[in-house]
Amino acid sequence: MSKSIEVQDLNVYYSDFLAVEGVSIDIEPRSVTAFIGPSGCGKSTFLRTLNRMHEVIPGGRVEGRVLIDGDDLYGPGVDPVLVRRHVGMVFQRPNPFPTMSIRENVLAGAKLNDKRMAKSDADALVEKSLRGANLWNEVKDRLDKPGGGLSGGQQQRLCIARAIAVSPDVLLMDEPCSALDPISTFAIEELIGELKSEYTIVIVTHNMQQASRVSDKTAFFNIAGTGKPGKLIEYNDTASIFTAPSVQATEDYVSGRFG
Ligand SMILES: Nc1ncnc2c1ncn2[C@@H]1O[C@H](COP(=O)(O)OP(=O)(O)OP(=O)(O)O)[C@@H](O)[C@H]1O
Ligand SMILES: [Mg+2]
Repeated sequence: MSKSIEVQDLNVYYSDFLAVEGVSIDIEPRSVTAFIGPSGCGKSTFLRTLNRMHEVIPGGRVEGRVLIDGDDLYGPGVDPVLVRRHVGMVFQRPNPFPTMSIRENVLAGAKLNDKRMAKSDADALVEKSLRGANLWNEVKDRLDKPGGGLSGGQQQRLCIARAIAVSPDVLLMDEPCSALDPISTFAIEELIGELKSEYTIVIVTHNMQQASRVSDKTAFFNIAGTGKPGKLIEYNDTASIFTAPSVQATEDYVSGRFG
């Protein structure tokens, strides 16, 4: 289940544009890591390299290494489709299949892995995943209704249920709460706290309070100017980043002086 992530000197390109430069970072299993930094510094770009979603974009490529529990994610013969089943992703905007039922949404990824799943197994997986995403009680009586009929916060939890239904090793979340109200945000934050016993979680957030509430470690990314590559400036225990950062730019950012 939960696995470590080791990134060694990663450069990330869009064609000729170097968007993120020289990132090295070690992420422990069963932990929550927050990525913070000003808009455009490459947080989403870097996050997408951790499950090979970056190369889906035309011109998207990387240099350097990403190891998941020691295995090279970009090694020869590695199937990116399989990678994405082991390293799940939840996006900023909830993206359930709107006309598909809640039940089928949860099963969407899992059924790709096991096309002939017995109904009883599927039922059990739906309940387990929805319970895991803290959504079961709200939807258990309308599993056959469309996913698009849920509130934004419920849709986001549905997407989390869909992501955990395939039993990933790592869960990447790109600003999962930015479209949500405070109550739904709180529900997702609680959920992240629970999920971390089973998954390695990386979350991008613009919300400093959220980073300090949910994460064990925080990585601050920054950019020197337009057209320059984003870089990892400082990575440490979250408490240190917020109370005693060692780099001035980190201090300026977390105290709201820029960005
Ligand atoms: N599909 C793309 N093609 C070309 N350049 C891109 C693409 N997506 C992002 N970029 C560029 O890569 C850089 C980093 O963008 P990215 O979206 O990773 O930043 P971010 O830190 O996630 O910002 P935000 O906080 O606004 O989400 C930016 O200069 C952006 O314009
Ligand atoms: Mg982003």
